[in-house]
Amino acid sequence: MCGIVGYVGPQDAAPILLEGLGRLEYRGYDSAGLALSAKGGLKVRKVSGRVADLAADLPARFKGAPGIGHTRWATHGEPSETNAHPQLDTAGRIAVVHNGIIENADELRAKLTADGVEFASQTDTEVVAHLVAAAFAAGAGDLEQAVRQALRQVVGAYGLAVLDAEHPDRIVVARNGSPVLLGVGEKEMFVASDVAALIGYTRQVVYLDDGELATITAGGYRTYTLDDRSTAKSPSTIDWDVVGAEIGDHAHYLIKEIQEQPRTIERALKGRIDERFATAHLGGLNLTVREAREIRRVKILGCGTACYAGELGAQLIEDLARVPATAEAASEFRYRNPVVEPDTLYVAVSQSGETIDTLAAVQELQRKGGRVIGIVNVVGSTIARQVDGGIYLHAGPEMSVAATKSFTSTVAAFALLALHLGRIRDLSPEQGRRIIAGLLALPGQVAQILEQEDAIAEVARGIATSNSMLFVGRRRGWPVAREGAQKLKEISYVHAEAYPSAELKHGPLALVSPEMPTVAIVPDDDLLDKNTSTLSEIKARKGPVIAIAHRELPDLADRTLVIPRSEPELDPILLSIPLQILAYHAAVALGRDVDKPRNLAKSVTVE
Ligand code: F6R
Repeated sequence: MCGIVGYVGPQDAAPILLEGLGRLEYRGYDSAGLALSAKGGLKVRKVSGRVADLAADLPARFKGAPGIGHTRWATHGEPSETNAHPQLDTAGRIAVVHNGIIENADELRAKLTADGVEFASQTDTEVVAHLVAAAFAAGAGDLEQAVRQALRQVVGAYGLAVLDAEHPDRIVVARNGSPVLLGVGEKEMFVASDVAALIGYTRQVVYLDDGELATITAGGYRTYTLDDRSTAKSPSTIDWDVVGAEIGDHAHYLIKEIQEQPRTIERALKGRIDERFATAHLGGLNLTVREAREIRRVKILGCGTACYAGELGAQLIEDLARVPATAEAASEFRYRNPVVEPDTLYVAVSQSGETIDTLAAVQELQRKGGRVIGIVNVVGSTIARQVDGGIYLHAGPEMSVAATKSFTSTVAAFALLALHLGRIRDLSPEQGRRIIAGLLALPGQVAQILEQEDAIAEVARGIATSNSMLFVGRRRGWPVAREGAQKLKEISYVHAEAYPSAELKHGPLALVSPEMPTVAIVPDDDLLDKNTSTLSEIKARKGPVIAIAHRELPDLADRTLVIPRSEPELDPILLSIPLQILAYHAAVALGRDVDKPRNLAKSVTVE
């Protein structure tokens, strides 16, 4: 989705803004632009296309500071140079970059048009530039006052930054429902919508809250509200590094992130396992043992891959803690006036910590008095700050749009939560030790699966030509199948549907034919016989089968990808790794834009 960067300081802003925009590319966008404050007024350049196209398009003398930049993911108006941000007022004095959606844009546009303003673009953002100019015309004394007056008329979600040719020492930013953070440097300041843009420049950041504005100058920052009450804030330190966000020798971020999983799972577990009492320590939950014992139900909310990880989390919690647990798409939950119970623990899962549907579900729960914890990757993100406690994944930046390492780390975090809840109930120390041993073995086992990449790539090239595929699994294999189908379709655009194995007979078996391959999740557990009979049903209809299993299944599968065995509760983590590699190589074979699949964005911050 859209990205914002800004810079105030002694350096030339353009290279800094371009680097920041480059680091936001992973979020998905269709156009990009910059505005700089320079002698004689603002300099603006925009392109419909990539940040590299924008960089190539800049004249040699495109210099100045402060400056603001943007990557746009079209909502109001098609992707085009005119609709790209920054958007300007008629005189070209005010430049605005904006993430989010202004809901009363049509109404404001009509009002401004009646006052004689001519609009250049179809965007909702342009309204803000004209409103700021109108506030100056009506007598606003400074940029802060003009922006506050403009925003008082705006209904909707925004993260925005405003540059004014007449106040060339500052940028004014504001947040309402779309993230904005400030980066604090040495006699220079930055602004961004995502911490990734600041990597390499500063680790000191200030997160704005909804309803807050900030003025940044080279000398520092001031934060305040729409009615100009000061909200003093101190910076916090981010722990991401440049190396983590860089692609290195890898062809794509996606394969880099798949290969990082031995280390990212290790980091999710680090410092959280208590071998003496065979339990997990999760200090960030902010739950006393007594409160944790009083939990009668667990409800997990997330979107897409985060929701599938939640489905596995629900099974872990039921298996290990014997507490009823379910997972649901946050995007559905928030719209159905949910019953919120005081003895239910709500868990919001989000890699980015910015997904609007998940955030809205959290806010609705808290409004009704629900206790919500988060399982989040991005430290300091909106959901991380909104929840009452939680578990950070510490997986490092996930740059590829498709979630991989955050999925396995989330399931590992759920295993810790289930262990913790189980050990204060009836899970025995022996069972606790069994799970701990299983968890500690995971990084090595993931590394073993990664060694099979070439063999999996060969299978992937075989399936890449299919028009459609089925993914089937039972019990814990069912969310694994869902996630496998999701990965394949989102990055290779091959249609894939997941079904619980036993449901095949109730409809989809009609689709099985030599042209429709099935990927079957077949762990060697107590349901093995049931799973092998599903495979026989598929084979009887001449459907090609690729099995992900713990041993060869020669008569039942055309190809078996054999993976190491974990504890049955933890098997899903390992079973999902070949599916990630399969999807990656199918997408590569088809020449897809692997890290930035069409129509998708990394964090979905608008509805
Ligand atoms: C799929 C994918 C999405 C996200 C979903 C939630 O690979 O990445 O389905 O999982 O948009 O995103 P977060 O976890 O950031 O809330």
